[in-house]
Amino acid sequence: FSLRTLNTFGIDARARHYARITAPAQLAAVLADPPLAALPRLVLGGGSNLLLTGDFDGLVLHMATSGREILPGGGEHVLVRAQAGENWHAFVEWTLAQGLGGLENLALIPGTVGAAPIQNIGAYGLETKDVFHSLTAFDPASGEMVTMRAADCRFGYRDSVFKQHPERGLIIVDVTFALPRAWRPNLRYAELANELANELASGLTNTVAGQGAAVPTARQVADAVIAIRRRKLPDPQVIGNAGSFFKNPVVSAAQCAALLERYPALVHHRQEDGSEKLAAGWLIDQCGWKGKSLGAAGVYPKQALVLVNQGGATGADVQRLARAIQADVQERFGVLLEPEPVFV
Ligand code: EPU
Repeated sequence: FSLRTLNTFGIDARARHYARITAPAQLAAVLADPPLAALPRLVLGGGSNLLLTGDFDGLVLHMATSGREILPGGGEHVLVRAQAGENWHAFVEWTLAQGLGGLENLALIPGTVGAAPIQNIGAYGLETKDVFHSLTAFDPASGEMVTMRAADCRFGYRDSVFKQHPERGLIIVDVTFALPRAWRPNLRYAELANELANELASGLTNTVAGQGAAVPTARQVADAVIAIRRRKLPDPQVIGNAGSFFKNPVVSAAQCAALLERYPALVHHRQEDGSEKLAAGWLIDQCGWKGKSLGAAGVYPKQALVLVNQGGATGADVQRLARAIQADVQERFGVLLEPEPVFV
């Protein structure tokens, strides 16, 4: 079974077995079959955070469930739930159409709702964990559905219990988000604030009635995020990629200070615990990799953090390029870049 159209890198790898899951109950049914249950498993959503390094000699469970609803209760929040197979961006658009703000900073992120908690997707000053309420997962060890709250998920930067303990094999079937009834725009990310300021100043957009200063609507924030992403990031439908290929590395304050002495333009952001997050894109860019390629794998010319499939690339091609970049950044800055996608 070819997985080429099921991963946004467009890598042409094959799976031995494939099951399309359209209802959560099918998970228990499929895994009740001992030969199937014994196989290595790959749970696939949108395939947008994945590098297939070869054929997969196991069972692919493709989560294709659908459904989204507003739940009763929630107090100061509105609780919205979506099934794992729902497309993430379509879900964000749906919440906005219901008049609900809260997810707009995460507009246009590829992938599915079920995949969002796995790497705690984040962008423009917001992470999944900030709007997360709970999720339902199928636990293959017990054959039962379990409810998990934020603490159970152990969210970190592009990280969660699902990445920390893949051996547990938990399969996310739905996710519930808590969206604030008293919505305020989250404009902590300078680039987003600037984008909106420009849009509002240009007078092309309407602001919330009755507000003196130009307070944007959630729709306007989403549109600004979409505009930035379209400008910088390649559309996986057009050119294969998995978004940022590396995490932004976190270094100690001392290491950051030492680097700043040699590279005053170093991009860095202080973290709550005093450590410093560096911009991997900047480090890669400085090493001259932007727009360069190695075989059919390349570095996107507008954002050095994104590796792309220029046509017919294999997982091995992408890995070769990734290793070459890691080696250069390590040699020049003494910093190890960790890949962001899951390697299979
Ligand atoms: N930069 C360069 N050259 C480049 C790329 C970036 O100098 O080629 C500099 C930029 O000028 C900027 C800094 O690096 O000063 C950061 O760049 P940017 O704002 O584009 O964000 P990022 O750190 O590269 C992260 C996330 C993105 C997310 C954006 C916005 C990670 C690994 N990536 O990128 O997430 O959309 O911030 O919040 O944390 C993803 O995970 O797939 C993803 C796209």
